[in-house]
Amino acid sequence: MSEHIVWHPAAITKADRQNLNRHKSFVLWFTGLSGSGKSTLANEVDRQLFSIGVRSYVLDGDNVRHGLNKGLGFSIEDRVENIRRIGEVSRLFVDSGQVVLTAFISPFREDRDRVRQLFEPGEFIEVFADCPLEVCEKRDVKGLYEKARRGEIREFTGIDSPYEAPLDPELKIDTTSASVEECAKQVIRYLQNNGMIGLESQIP
Ligand SMILES: Nc1ncnc2c1ncn2[C@@H]1O[C@H](COP(=O)(O)OP(=O)(O)OP(=O)(O)O)[C@@H](O)[C@H]1O
Ligand SMILES: [Mg+2]
Repeated sequence: MSEHIVWHPAAITKADRQNLNRHKSFVLWFTGLSGSGKSTLANEVDRQLFSIGVRSYVLDGDNVRHGLNKGLGFSIEDRVENIRRIGEVSRLFVDSGQVVLTAFISPFREDRDRVRQLFEPGEFIEVFADCPLEVCEKRDVKGLYEKARRGEIREFTGIDSPYEAPLDPELKIDTTSASVEECAKQVIRYLQNNGMIGLESQIP
């Protein structure tokens, strides 16, 4: 990095912004196989947070690849860079006092742990959307598993590219045995119990 680039201290701090918003700022990092429910769950949690006045925003895999990460593919190298950039963007969100929900397969433990290092303790909440490959493949929301099985997509996570499940996630949500709303409530309850958002708020 150039020695001529210096960090300019902010006049308003993260704590100031959190006080204004009346909730903590943090990242809910959803990880799991394609079809495990990351986007569905992140959006439902976002909806529930919005309804109680929490400043939150979803960064979703496909959407980010249309813009910020346009040009990155699915090679190991590009996947690492993809996650690194999302991590940095998430850090900006958290620094701005907001809640960010990320929905990326993020298959490698090392990459997720590297992102975790960008945050202060408690700010990075890893949410494992736990769903067996067979179920994800049966859901096949985007028809991608079928294409991967036919060999039309290479390096597809779970088929010919590994998925490394989190060893000790803050939250593990079984998306096969409860409704989307119930799964989202589990996330909200965790946030309330850990003082990240207000206890008083009733989710409609
Ligand atoms: N409890 C649940 N939580 C989340 N999704 C669920 C649940 N029960 C059923 N589903 C269904 O599972 C599917 C999950 O698809 P979704 O697109 O959210 O997965 P994803 O993890 O974002 O996949 P990708 O990595 O390909 O973007 C949806 O069709 C959703 O309706
Ligand atoms: Mg998704």
